[in-house]
Amino acid sequence: MGSEEEDRIANAWGSSAPYWEKYRDRLRQMYAPLTDALLEAASIAPGQRVLDVAGGAGEPSLAIADRVGSDGCVVTTDVAGAMVAATGREAQRAGIANLRCAVCSALALPFRDGSFDRSVCRLGAMFFRDILSAAGEMSRVTRPGGRVAYVVWSGPDRTPFISVATEVLARFVAPDPEPPDALNAWRFAERGVLAGHLRDAGLVDVSETPLAFDIALPIDFDAFWKMRIELSDTLREKVGRLDEAVAASLDDAVREATRSFFRSGTMRFPSEALVVAGSTASH
Ligand SMILES: C[S@@+](CC[C@H](N)C(=O)[O-])C[C@H]1O[C@@H](n2cnc3c(N)ncnc32)[C@H](O)[C@@H]1O
Repeated sequence: MGSEEEDRIANAWGSSAPYWEKYRDRLRQMYAPLTDALLEAASIAPGQRVLDVAGGAGEPSLAIADRVGSDGCVVTTDVAGAMVAATGREAQRAGIANLRCAVCSALALPFRDGSFDRSVCRLGAMFFRDILSAAGEMSRVTRPGGRVAYVVWSGPDRTPFISVATEVLARFVAPDPEPPDALNAWRFAERGVLAGHLRDAGLVDVSETPLAFDIALPIDFDAFWKMRIELSDTLREKVGRLDEAVAASLDDAVREATRSFFRSGTMRFPSEALVVAGSTASH
């Protein structure tokens, strides 16, 4: 798989895979607007052969399998084997026959040039150490005149579903020092940065579209907070180290900081993502 750092990343995400599988239905609902926008930006249609890079525990691969239909096919990939296995289990359970699985890094895709009509990546690009290599690989395996599309998060002020917990936790546990280009959720939040990398990787007609949407579910604060901790290896590790009294104070502080996002048993976080897409040059 390559570098020690990639092994560490694969292990960290692999440890989260059981939770991403547990919450797959909720993740599907919460991020459905992202899936819709991604599929539209990549112009995914019946009969296509599509690559999903860093596919996690199932989405958007499962939605793509449905969209391309029995004449098409989706290949789901992830650097964490446990994520890919979780997707495979769901495909088998649901009787989805047009989904294939591969464990691989985005930096070295094990596919021939031009193998796919479309390549997509939802919420994964921020974690690729060498984004230029990954973008180059996704372009390489997409046929000339095909489409490549990514979704990444906007900044912390526009993604409170993620940022509030991180900010409140920092009052209780000193955050690890991070370089400006740290592999975190907001790495490509600045407008134009990912689009510039995609142009450098050879994509043409690159567009960047902000997408405002709500992360909404019919759950209360307690269900949100349990899910939020479980989905993140960092939160699981840091919260797990707190003694009971401090953990209770943290719960109270997060409850207070997120109060405006819960009403009558419903969670609704205003959110923003960037949809960045382009075409592979035609011959
Ligand atoms: C936030 S999750 C997103 C998963 C899924 N695409 C979704 O939208 O639900 C990020 C995923 O990126 C994967 N990942 C991180 N670095 C990777 C790399 N270098 N190559 C492939 N996948 C990677 C992780 O294993 C994880 O499944």
